[in-house]
Amino acid sequence: MRVGILTAGGDCPGLNAVIRAAARRLLAHGHEPIGLRRGYRGLADRDRVTLDQRAVSGILPLGGTILSTSNFNPFREPDGIERVRAAQATDPLDAVIAIGGEHTMMITRRLSEEVGLPVIGVPKTIDNDVVGTDYTFGFDTAVQVATDAIDRLHTTAQSHDRVMVLEVMGRNTGWIAVFAGIAGGADAILIPELELTVEEVAAAIGRRHERGKSFSIVVVAEGAQLAFESGERREIRASEEVDGYGYPRLGGIGAALATELEARTGFETRVTTLGHVQRGGTPTATDRMLATRYGVHAADLVMAGETGRMVALHGTEMTSIPLEQVEGIKTVELRYLEIARTFFG
Ligand code: F6P
Repeated sequence: MRVGILTAGGDCPGLNAVIRAAARRLLAHGHEPIGLRRGYRGLADRDRVTLDQRAVSGILPLGGTILSTSNFNPFREPDGIERVRAAQATDPLDAVIAIGGEHTMMITRRLSEEVGLPVIGVPKTIDNDVVGTDYTFGFDTAVQVATDAIDRLHTTAQSHDRVMVLEVMGRNTGWIAVFAGIAGGADAILIPELELTVEEVAAAIGRRHERGKSFSIVVVAEGAQLAFESGERREIRASEEVDGYGYPRLGGIGAALATELEARTGFETRVTTLGHVQRGGTPTATDRMLATRYGVHAADLVMAGETGRMVALHGTEMTSIPLEQVEGIKTVELRYLEIARTFFG
Protein backbone atom coordinates (compact mmCIF):
# COMPACT_ATOMS: atom_id res chain seq x y z
CA MET A 1 0.00 0.00 0.00
CA ARG A 2 1.07 3.56 -0.63
CA VAL A 3 0.02 5.57 2.37
CA GLY A 4 0.17 9.38 2.59
CA ILE A 5 0.89 10.94 5.98
CA LEU A 6 0.28 14.62 6.64
CA THR A 7 0.19 17.09 9.54
CA ALA A 8 -2.36 19.93 9.34
CA GLY A 9 -3.34 22.95 11.46
CA GLY A 10 -1.16 24.27 14.28
CA ASP A 11 1.84 22.17 15.25
CA CYS A 12 2.31 20.55 18.65
CA PRO A 13 4.94 18.41 20.35
CA GLY A 14 4.61 14.75 19.34
CA LEU A 15 3.76 15.15 15.63
CA ASN A 16 7.10 13.67 14.60
CA ALA A 17 6.62 10.79 17.02
CA VAL A 18 3.33 9.91 15.25
CA ILE A 19 4.91 10.22 11.79
CA ARG A 20 7.77 7.95 12.86
CA ALA A 21 5.50 5.36 14.51
CA ALA A 22 3.05 5.14 11.60
CA ALA A 23 5.84 5.04 9.01
CA ARG A 24 7.84 2.41 10.90
CA ARG A 25 4.76 0.22 11.37
CA LEU A 26 3.89 0.44 7.66
CA LEU A 27 7.48 -0.18 6.57
CA ALA A 28 7.70 -3.22 8.86
CA HIS A 29 4.76 -4.72 6.94
CA GLY A 30 6.18 -3.97 3.51
CA HIS A 31 4.11 -0.86 2.74
CA GLU A 32 5.23 2.53 1.46
CA PRO A 33 4.61 5.58 3.67
CA ILE A 34 4.77 8.89 1.79
CA GLY A 35 4.98 12.28 3.48
CA LEU A 36 2.62 14.99 2.19
CA ARG A 37 4.06 18.42 2.85
CA ARG A 38 2.23 21.33 4.50
CA GLY A 39 -0.97 19.53 5.38
CA TYR A 40 -3.64 19.05 2.75
CA ARG A 41 -1.74 21.36 0.40
CA GLY A 42 0.69 18.48 -0.10
CA LEU A 43 -2.17 16.18 -1.11
CA ALA A 44 -3.63 18.69 -3.58
CA ASP A 45 -0.28 19.71 -5.09
CA ARG A 46 1.39 16.27 -4.93
CA ASP A 47 4.14 17.78 -2.79
CA ARG A 48 5.50 14.49 -1.47
CA VAL A 49 8.58 13.20 0.35
CA THR A 50 9.81 9.69 0.92
CA LEU A 51 9.35 8.41 4.44
CA ASP A 52 11.84 5.56 4.52
CA GLN A 53 13.71 4.34 7.61
CA ARG A 54 16.31 7.02 7.18
CA ALA A 55 13.81 9.88 6.85
CA VAL A 56 12.09 9.03 10.13
CA SER A 57 15.24 8.20 12.05
CA GLY A 58 16.06 10.43 15.03
CA ILE A 59 12.82 12.42 14.97
CA LEU A 60 11.06 10.93 18.01
CA PRO A 61 12.12 13.70 20.46
CA LEU A 62 11.83 16.56 17.94
CA GLY A 63 9.13 19.22 18.34
CA GLY A 64 7.34 20.64 15.29
CA THR A 65 6.81 18.50 12.20
CA ILE A 66 9.32 17.34 9.61
CA LEU A 67 6.47 17.50 7.06
CA SER A 68 5.59 21.16 7.83
CA THR A 69 1.98 22.13 8.32
CA SER A 70 -0.61 24.60 7.06
CA ASN A 71 -4.28 25.50 7.40
CA PHE A 72 -4.91 24.64 3.73
CA ASN A 73 -8.52 23.51 3.36
CA PRO A 74 -9.26 21.99 -0.07
CA PHE A 75 -12.96 22.75 0.40
CA ARG A 76 -12.22 26.47 0.75
CA GLU A 77 -9.77 26.74 -2.15
CA PRO A 78 -11.42 27.55 -5.50
CA ASP A 79 -10.13 24.38 -7.24
CA GLY A 80 -8.97 22.51 -4.13
CA ILE A 81 -11.09 19.39 -4.59
CA GLU A 82 -10.32 19.17 -8.32
CA ARG A 83 -6.61 19.23 -7.45
CA VAL A 84 -7.08 16.45 -4.90
CA ARG A 85 -9.00 14.34 -7.44
CA ALA A 86 -6.38 15.02 -10.13
CA ALA A 87 -3.55 14.04 -7.78
CA GLN A 88 -5.35 10.82 -6.93
CA ALA A 89 -5.97 10.06 -10.60
CA THR A 90 -2.33 10.64 -11.58
CA ASP A 91 -0.54 9.10 -8.64
CA PRO A 92 -3.03 7.39 -6.33
CA LEU A 93 -2.55 6.84 -2.62
CA ASP A 94 -4.26 3.84 -1.04
CA ALA A 95 -4.93 5.76 2.15
CA VAL A 96 -4.10 9.03 3.91
CA ILE A 97 -3.29 9.40 7.62
CA ALA A 98 -4.18 12.98 8.58
CA ILE A 99 -2.79 14.22 11.88
CA GLY A 100 -4.64 17.33 13.03
CA GLY A 101 -7.15 19.04 15.31
CA GLU A 102 -10.93 19.15 15.18
CA HIS A 103 -11.00 21.27 12.02
CA THR A 104 -8.66 18.86 10.24
CA MET A 105 -10.90 15.97 11.35
CA MET A 106 -13.86 17.74 9.75
CA ILE A 107 -11.96 18.17 6.44
CA THR A 108 -10.78 14.55 6.66
CA ARG A 109 -14.33 13.31 7.15
CA ARG A 110 -15.57 15.31 4.15
CA LEU A 111 -12.77 13.93 1.97
CA SER A 112 -13.83 10.45 3.00
CA GLU A 113 -17.55 11.05 2.43
CA GLU A 114 -17.49 13.36 -0.59
CA VAL A 115 -14.34 12.31 -2.46
CA GLY A 116 -14.16 8.68 -1.37
CA LEU A 117 -10.61 9.06 -0.06
CA PRO A 118 -9.67 6.27 2.38
CA VAL A 119 -8.58 8.26 5.45
CA ILE A 120 -7.59 7.85 9.07
CA GLY A 121 -7.56 10.82 11.45
CA VAL A 122 -5.11 11.17 14.33
CA PRO A 123 -6.12 13.84 16.87
CA LYS A 124 -3.44 16.31 17.92
CA THR A 125 -3.49 19.60 19.77
CA ILE A 126 -2.10 21.20 22.88
CA ASP A 127 -5.70 22.37 23.58
CA ASN A 128 -7.02 18.82 24.27
CA ASP A 129 -10.35 19.86 22.76
CA VAL A 130 -10.94 17.10 20.18
CA VAL A 131 -14.22 15.28 20.78
CA GLY A 132 -14.11 11.49 21.03
CA THR A 133 -10.70 11.02 22.61
CA ASP A 134 -9.73 11.46 26.25
CA TYR A 135 -6.35 13.07 25.57
CA THR A 136 -4.55 14.45 22.56
CA PHE A 137 -0.76 14.33 22.41
CA GLY A 138 0.87 17.74 22.83
CA PHE A 139 -1.40 18.58 25.75
CA ASP A 140 0.83 17.04 28.40
CA THR A 141 3.84 18.96 27.11
CA ALA A 142 1.93 22.26 27.11
CA VAL A 143 0.71 21.59 30.64
CA GLN A 144 4.28 20.86 31.75
CA VAL A 145 5.57 24.10 30.21
CA ALA A 146 2.78 26.09 31.88
CA THR A 147 3.35 24.34 35.22
CA ASP A 148 7.07 25.13 35.08
CA ALA A 149 6.13 28.76 34.41
CA ILE A 150 3.83 28.84 37.45
CA ASP A 151 6.61 27.39 39.62
CA ARG A 152 8.96 30.11 38.43
CA LEU A 153 6.35 32.83 38.92
CA HIS A 154 5.81 31.68 42.50
CA THR A 155 9.33 32.54 43.61
CA THR A 156 9.39 35.99 42.07
CA ALA A 157 5.80 36.74 43.16
CA GLN A 158 6.73 35.88 46.74
CA SER A 159 9.85 38.04 46.71
CA HIS A 160 7.93 41.13 45.59
CA ASP A 161 4.51 40.63 47.22
CA ARG A 162 2.90 40.66 43.80
CA VAL A 163 -0.08 39.22 42.01
CA MET A 164 1.09 37.29 38.94
CA VAL A 165 -1.33 36.64 36.08
CA LEU A 166 -0.34 33.87 33.67
CA GLU A 167 -2.17 33.68 30.32
CA VAL A 168 -2.10 30.25 28.70
CA MET A 169 -3.39 28.94 25.36
CA GLY A 170 -6.29 26.55 24.82
CA ARG A 171 -8.44 28.38 22.29
CA ASN A 172 -12.09 28.04 23.41
CA THR A 173 -11.42 25.57 26.20
CA GLY A 174 -9.61 25.78 29.52
CA TRP A 175 -7.88 22.38 29.65
CA ILE A 176 -4.34 23.76 29.82
CA ALA A 177 -5.34 26.41 32.38
CA VAL A 178 -7.09 23.92 34.66
CA PHE A 179 -4.44 21.19 34.54
CA ALA A 180 -1.47 23.55 34.88
CA GLY A 181 -3.34 25.63 37.45
CA ILE A 182 -3.95 22.60 39.66
CA ALA A 183 -0.46 21.18 39.12
CA GLY A 184 1.16 24.55 39.85
CA GLY A 185 -1.07 25.44 42.81
CA ALA A 186 -2.69 28.55 41.27
CA ASP A 187 -4.87 30.68 43.53
CA ALA A 188 -7.49 31.30 40.84
CA ILE A 189 -8.15 29.81 37.40
CA LEU A 190 -10.29 31.50 34.76
CA ILE A 191 -11.57 29.48 31.80
CA PRO A 192 -14.16 29.95 29.05
CA GLU A 193 -16.36 27.13 30.40
CA LEU A 194 -17.13 28.77 33.73
CA GLU A 195 -17.60 32.42 34.45
CA LEU A 196 -15.69 33.96 37.34
CA THR A 197 -16.05 37.72 37.68
CA VAL A 198 -13.14 40.11 38.17
CA GLU A 199 -14.71 41.06 41.52
CA GLU A 200 -14.78 37.40 42.66
CA VAL A 201 -11.11 36.93 41.79
CA ALA A 202 -10.16 40.19 43.51
CA ALA A 203 -12.10 39.11 46.63
CA ALA A 204 -10.32 35.72 46.68
CA ILE A 205 -6.96 37.49 46.46
CA GLY A 206 -8.05 39.83 49.26
CA ARG A 207 -8.96 36.85 51.50
CA ARG A 208 -5.56 35.25 50.87
CA HIS A 209 -3.78 38.42 51.84
CA GLU A 210 -5.90 38.73 55.00
CA ARG A 211 -4.74 35.22 55.90
CA GLY A 212 -1.16 36.47 55.75
CA LYS A 213 -0.20 35.52 52.18
CA SER A 214 1.47 38.37 50.37
CA PHE A 215 1.31 37.10 46.79
CA SER A 216 -1.13 35.32 44.45
CA ILE A 217 -0.96 33.42 41.17
CA VAL A 218 -3.86 33.69 38.73
CA VAL A 219 -4.03 31.48 35.61
CA VAL A 220 -6.29 32.61 32.78
CA ALA A 221 -7.11 30.76 29.58
CA GLU A 222 -6.80 32.90 26.43
CA GLY A 223 -10.43 32.15 25.49
CA ALA A 224 -11.93 33.31 28.80
CA GLN A 225 -14.00 36.48 28.82
CA LEU A 226 -13.47 39.38 31.17
CA ALA A 227 -16.68 39.31 33.24
CA PHE A 228 -17.88 41.91 35.73
CA GLU A 229 -20.46 41.82 38.52
CA SER A 230 -22.43 44.46 36.60
CA GLY A 231 -23.06 41.88 33.87
CA GLU A 232 -20.59 43.50 31.47
CA ARG A 233 -18.57 40.98 29.38
CA ARG A 234 -15.46 41.83 27.40
CA GLU A 235 -14.11 39.50 24.76
CA ILE A 236 -10.41 40.22 24.30
CA ARG A 237 -8.64 39.30 21.06
CA ALA A 238 -5.09 39.70 19.83
CA SER A 239 -6.42 41.14 16.56
CA GLU A 240 -9.44 41.10 14.31
CA GLU A 241 -7.68 38.65 11.98
CA VAL A 242 -8.93 35.12 11.46
CA ASP A 243 -6.69 32.24 10.38
CA GLY A 244 -7.07 29.97 7.33
CA TYR A 245 -9.61 27.84 9.19
CA GLY A 246 -11.62 30.93 10.18
CA TYR A 247 -10.56 30.96 13.86
CA PRO A 248 -10.05 34.36 15.50
CA ARG A 249 -6.65 35.15 16.99
CA LEU A 250 -7.00 35.04 20.75
CA GLY A 251 -4.73 36.65 23.34
CA GLY A 252 -4.62 39.68 25.60
CA ILE A 253 -7.01 38.67 28.39
CA GLY A 254 -4.06 38.29 30.81
CA ALA A 255 -3.02 41.93 30.49
CA ALA A 256 -6.61 43.18 30.70
CA LEU A 257 -7.28 41.05 33.79
CA ALA A 258 -4.05 42.20 35.46
CA THR A 259 -5.07 45.85 35.07
CA GLU A 260 -8.50 45.19 36.58
CA LEU A 261 -7.11 43.17 39.49
CA GLU A 262 -4.47 45.75 40.35
CA ALA A 263 -7.12 48.50 40.36
CA ARG A 264 -9.38 46.49 42.69
CA THR A 265 -6.87 44.90 45.08
CA GLY A 266 -4.24 47.61 45.20
CA PHE A 267 -1.57 44.90 44.90
CA GLU A 268 1.13 45.31 42.33
CA THR A 269 0.28 42.97 39.45
CA ARG A 270 2.33 41.61 36.57
CA VAL A 271 1.35 39.53 33.58
CA THR A 272 3.10 36.74 31.66
CA THR A 273 1.76 35.45 28.36
CA LEU A 274 3.27 32.08 27.51
CA GLY A 275 2.14 31.97 23.87
CA HIS A 276 3.82 29.58 21.46
CA VAL A 277 6.41 28.47 24.01
CA GLN A 278 3.67 25.99 24.99
CA ARG A 279 3.70 24.50 21.51
CA GLY A 280 7.38 24.32 20.76
CA GLY A 281 10.18 22.01 21.77
CA THR A 282 10.52 18.40 22.71
CA PRO A 283 7.48 16.34 23.79
CA THR A 284 7.29 14.91 27.30
CA ALA A 285 7.70 11.15 27.72
CA THR A 286 3.91 10.87 28.19
CA ASP A 287 3.30 12.62 24.86
CA ARG A 288 5.94 10.52 23.06
CA MET A 289 4.26 7.39 24.34
CA LEU A 290 0.77 8.60 23.42
CA ALA A 291 1.87 9.80 19.98
CA THR A 292 3.62 6.50 19.30
CA ARG A 293 0.51 4.55 20.26
CA TYR A 294 -1.64 6.79 18.04
CA GLY A 295 0.75 6.34 15.09
CA VAL A 296 0.97 2.56 15.37
CA HIS A 297 -2.80 2.26 15.72
CA ALA A 298 -3.39 4.50 12.68
CA ALA A 299 -1.12 2.30 10.56
CA ASP A 300 -2.88 -0.83 11.83
CA LEU A 301 -6.28 0.60 10.85
CA VAL A 302 -5.01 1.43 7.36
CA MET A 303 -3.61 -2.08 6.92
CA ALA A 304 -6.90 -3.57 8.15
CA GLY A 305 -8.83 -1.43 5.63
CA GLU A 306 -10.78 0.23 8.45
CA THR A 307 -10.77 3.78 7.13
CA GLY A 308 -13.11 6.74 7.74
CA ARG A 309 -12.15 6.61 11.42
CA MET A 310 -10.24 8.64 13.99
CA VAL A 311 -7.85 6.95 16.40
CA ALA A 312 -8.97 7.60 19.98
CA LEU A 313 -7.80 7.05 23.53
CA HIS A 314 -10.55 5.79 25.81
CA GLY A 315 -9.24 5.40 29.34
CA THR A 316 -6.03 3.46 28.80
CA GLU A 317 -7.27 1.74 25.62
CA MET A 318 -6.23 2.85 22.13
CA THR A 319 -9.25 2.43 19.88
CA SER A 320 -11.01 4.34 17.08
CA ILE A 321 -14.34 6.00 16.33
CA PRO A 322 -16.10 6.91 13.06
CA LEU A 323 -15.06 10.38 11.87
CA GLU A 324 -18.71 11.49 11.78
CA GLN A 325 -18.73 11.32 15.58
CA VAL A 326 -16.08 14.03 15.80
CA GLU A 327 -18.35 17.08 16.04
CA GLY A 328 -17.83 20.30 18.00
CA ILE A 329 -15.24 20.75 20.73
CA LYS A 330 -14.59 18.90 23.96
CA THR A 331 -14.90 21.29 26.88
CA VAL A 332 -13.36 20.91 30.33
CA GLU A 333 -15.12 18.55 32.70
CA LEU A 334 -16.05 20.81 35.56
CA ARG A 335 -15.15 18.15 38.13
CA TYR A 336 -11.56 19.27 37.59
CA LEU A 337 -12.48 22.82 38.57
CA GLU A 338 -14.12 21.44 41.69
CA ILE A 339 -10.73 20.06 42.67
CA ALA A 340 -9.07 23.40 41.90
CA ARG A 341 -11.65 25.33 43.96
CA THR A 342 -10.63 23.50 47.11
CA PHE A 343 -7.46 25.59 47.05
CA PHE A 344 -8.89 29.01 46.07
CA GLY A 345 -9.34 32.05 48.27
O1 F6P B 1 -4.84 25.24 18.67
C1 F6P B 1 -3.56 25.43 19.19
C2 F6P B 1 -3.30 26.88 19.45
O2 F6P B 1 -1.98 27.02 19.96
C3 F6P B 1 -4.31 27.56 20.36
O3 F6P B 1 -4.12 27.24 21.71
C4 F6P B 1 -4.09 29.01 20.01
O4 F6P B 1 -5.22 29.81 20.24
C5 F6P B 1 -3.82 28.93 18.53
O5 F6P B 1 -3.38 27.62 18.24
C6 F6P B 1 -2.79 29.90 18.04
O6 F6P B 1 -2.73 29.81 16.66
P1 F6P B 1 -1.59 30.47 15.78
O7 F6P B 1 -0.35 29.63 15.94
O8 F6P B 1 -2.14 30.39 14.41
O9 F6P B 1 -1.37 31.84 16.28
